[in-house]
Amino acid sequence: MSKIGIFVGTVYGNAQHVAEDVNTMFSAQGLTSEVFTDPSLDDFKKVTSLLFISSTTGQGDIPPNLEFFIEDLREQFTLLEQKPFAVAGLGDSSYGETYCGAGRQIFDLLTELQGKPITGLLEIDACETLEPEVEVVAWAEKLIPELI
Ligand SMILES: Cc1cc2nc3c(=O)[nH]c(=O)nc-3n(C[C@H](O)[C@H](O)[C@H](O)COP(=O)(O)O)c2cc1C
Repeated sequence: MSKIGIFVGTVYGNAQHVAEDVNTMFSAQGLTSEVFTDPSLDDFKKVTSLLFISSTTGQGDIPPNLEFFIEDLREQFTLLEQKPFAVAGLGDSSYGETYCGAGRQIFDLLTELQGKPITGLLEIDACETLEPEVEVVAWAEKLIPELI
């Protein structure tokens, strides 16, 4: 049976809130999914598709709750064997060059690990969007055929 893993990187809870709304939408569609805020490599291997929703902190950095996990993936070079993935980055374009830096790092890493990108990185700009959950839920809903 397919299971969508929703991996969240968050500092202040925005991305977490968005991920929970996406999870609720998947459940309403009869799909199996789980939100991970403190994931292990086991969680990562068990799911059949990957949806990352991550804000950016510092200067283009991955939020601390995902930092070590991402480092583990990088170091252990856990190959994804074409597992489908998608990444939504929550950021703020006023940060200039580091805009959505965490989302970009995650997208590049999953590509390097030979995952199969379903679509390009979704960038959600806090300067323009007051309700990131509305955009991300609509985006994730369109990806369902490729996530299951
Ligand atoms: C200290 C700090 C540093 C940030 N650095 C960046 C950054 O480098 N690039 C970016 O796009 N957004 C940056 N942001 C904006 C956040 O990613 C954005 O506000 C996001 O919606 C926060 O989501 P969260 O509540 O899930 O952490 C930063 C925000 C703060 C408070």
